[in-house]
Amino acid sequence: FDVGVILPAAGSGERLGGATPKQYCKILGKPLFLYALEAFEKISYVRHIVLVVDDPSNVEPFLQETNSHKVVVVQGESTRHRSIRAGLQALTKQECDMRVVIVHDAVRPVVPEDLVRQLVLAANENGAAGAVCRLVSTVISAETDGSLKTVLDRNAHLASETPQAFQTDVLVSAYSKCTDKDLDCGTECLQLALEYAGVHAQLVEGSPNDLWKVTIHRDMYTASECLRERSN
Ligand code: CTP
Ligand code: MG
Repeated sequence: FDVGVILPAAGSGERLGGATPKQYCKILGKPLFLYALEAFEKISYVRHIVLVVDDPSNVEPFLQETNSHKVVVVQGESTRHRSIRAGLQALTKQECDMRVVIVHDAVRPVVPEDLVRQLVLAANENGAAGAVCRLVSTVISAETDGSLKTVLDRNAHLASETPQAFQTDVLVSAYSKCTDKDLDCGTECLQLALEYAGVHAQLVEGSPNDLWKVTIHRDMYTASECLRERSN
């Protein structure tokens, strides 16, 4: 069956800072968003890729270069959920019927193909699936005065990453039923699928060496080094 991909890339990169939003920063001479885009282009069962950006004219020069027939560019919105919803609307307007949709942050340049396949199959079977990593740090919760409240059991919690995969109907239904508060304050598509479409969200463990996101300054070094290593 056919699969669609949504790559949200319309954020402003506040935690990284700097003049250019992180998705456009050049890593080894190539803008960050192109790594994930090119990785999904190579996957044969991916029919369409919707790249969601703040301003489509920013990416047109790069897309002309790659000359892809799979890519559709759409305008993003004020939050990640809203941008993904815009991407989903564009995806469902495509002629071909895609049974599963993958959501992957454009600022995560490493896309492990094996994991993508596992997620797609798990989503097709269960409704939704997402990549997770074991936690590196111990997670605690704090009181409002900044003192320690409780220590969580590290082995009972996981970090949620992307890619995530959903039956298309599940994601469409979740975004049509969720509230404005979800769209403005939420961060987790799997939660919307669970809460509003009532599906089982299968978690698939990946490697933290693959599933990192460029978020803060140090991640730019990680990105150059990891991507250099992979290109050799
Ligand atoms: N994103 C989006 N639309 C938004 C906000 C975020 O498409 N309104 C995208 C980002 O471009 C990124 C992904 O969602 O590819 C993950 O978000 P995040 O890492 O939080 O990126 P930013 O929101 O840009 O960064 P920050 O939160 O530090 O401002
Ligand atoms: Mg953000």
